[in-house]
Amino acid sequence: MTKTPPHKPPSAPDARGTAAERRRSAGRSPERRRQSASSTPAPAASGAAPRACAARVLDAVLHRGRSLRAELVEALPMLADPRDRALVEALCFAVLRQPGRYAAALTAWMPKPPGRRDGELRTLLYLGFAQLDPLRLPAHAAVAATVEAARMLGRRHQAGMVNALLRRAQREGLPAVDPDADWPDWLRARIRDDWPEQADAVFAASVAEPPMWLRVNCRRLTREACIGRLHEAGIAAVADPHAADALHLETSMPVAALPGFADGAVSVQDLSAQCVADVLAPAAGARVLDACAAPGGKAAHLLEREPSLRLTALDVDARRLERVRETLRRLHPDLETGPDVRLLAADATAVADWWDGVPFDAVLLDAPCSATGIVRRQPDVRLHRRAADVDALVAVQAQLLDALWTTLRPGGVLVYATCSILKAENASQVEAFLARTPDARAEPLPAHLGHASGPGRQRLPGEDGGDGFFYARLRKTG
Ligand SMILES: C[S@@+](CC[C@H](N)C(=O)[O-])C[C@H]1O[C@@H](n2cnc3c(N)ncnc32)[C@H](O)[C@@H]1O
Repeated sequence: MTKTPPHKPPSAPDARGTAAERRRSAGRSPERRRQSASSTPAPAASGAAPRACAARVLDAVLHRGRSLRAELVEALPMLADPRDRALVEALCFAVLRQPGRYAAALTAWMPKPPGRRDGELRTLLYLGFAQLDPLRLPAHAAVAATVEAARMLGRRHQAGMVNALLRRAQREGLPAVDPDADWPDWLRARIRDDWPEQADAVFAASVAEPPMWLRVNCRRLTREACIGRLHEAGIAAVADPHAADALHLETSMPVAALPGFADGAVSVQDLSAQCVADVLAPAAGARVLDACAAPGGKAAHLLEREPSLRLTALDVDARRLERVRETLRRLHPDLETGPDVRLLAADATAVADWWDGVPFDAVLLDAPCSATGIVRRQPDVRLHRRAADVDALVAVQAQLLDALWTTLRPGGVLVYATCSILKAENASQVEAFLARTPDARAEPLPAHLGHASGPGRQRLPGEDGGDGFFYARLRKTG
């Protein structure tokens, strides 16, 4: 599954704040301040405003079950300065990768830590800790801006306590916690069952900030030429030895600052997602179905590799399908007249509703899944996922496999991929499919794609720098 880049936390946020903002904020009720902060763009050069904004976002995600993406989409436009927006994202991601660590500090250092009713104060303290470790912002300015944010949130009377706790964290460092502390019991147990030898590394990788990977559009420039362009802009990049279009950046950065992003010469896409194009490897001119296409990262990659494909990109979610159109248009400004692409909003399992009966040469099923392989990029997955969701996803994946198999021509190839690390969604899913589908045969995959796992291969989070991802290549016999 594609890791959508918009919320890639940028590096090196700074700590800023304006006197004007403080004056405006003072003298209003907490509720009034809250409304004001969420309805008018904050002025630039604010240190307190982005921290107050991040505390609210985190409160909604951690205490009210909201999704991080949805909260950021709502909150970020309220901040006028891109540096403020970048700081909010960096703070939210850093906290959500290990909230248990910050909660442990409050438990150790406070006789009565703030509870859910004081959610914003609690999350403000979390992000105060996170900016000291792991973000390592300049401590003096970061603490001062966080204390100011407490006042903005109507916590003037607790500003001294915020200051004291952050100073203590600065002096003593945060108490250590186990890297698996933030996983719900059921999911931790499943990962330990499925990957007993690798589970600790999986948990450790999910705490770390993920690297930034670029995909070079090989139709526009070679990977070496791209490394040269990046180098001229002061950006260090390393070519991956196996994925032909992948570049690993040594430092993450805002997408818009990447030379070549706007004109489609480079895109942001994790290594593991990029490997899907190699696994499917459709021939020139092939009729290809991308059955779960949105937001379109893999469809775009397939077309970059082979513009002569006749591609049908399908997704059940019409709004997300619009993102496929936007993605493809950035890469192919001649989308309407150039490549042979059809975008369809439909449920892939209801084949009679959308299929014209002409078989596909290749089908990509990048299936909806638990996203347990990309927790480092979507850390709130652990908060929202329930055990019953996995059972429901396994059932949908099986339906998708059965339905899409009927659209594949004899001799054709279906690639099943997920960004899950759970065997039920991956090896066991494909084993069950092979057992009930006599004309399906799994083909071997190269070892660099990860651990051999049933009929496919599994890369675990952080291995070779990539996200957790499963691949299986299934051939329809004649
Ligand atoms: C893992 S994401 C796909 C990512 C995409 N392949 C990419 O590279 O950008 C899974 C997608 O499956 C879609 N989906 C879920 N159930 C579906 C169904 N029954 N039919 C078609 N699409 C479905 C979701 O809307 C979601 O966009």
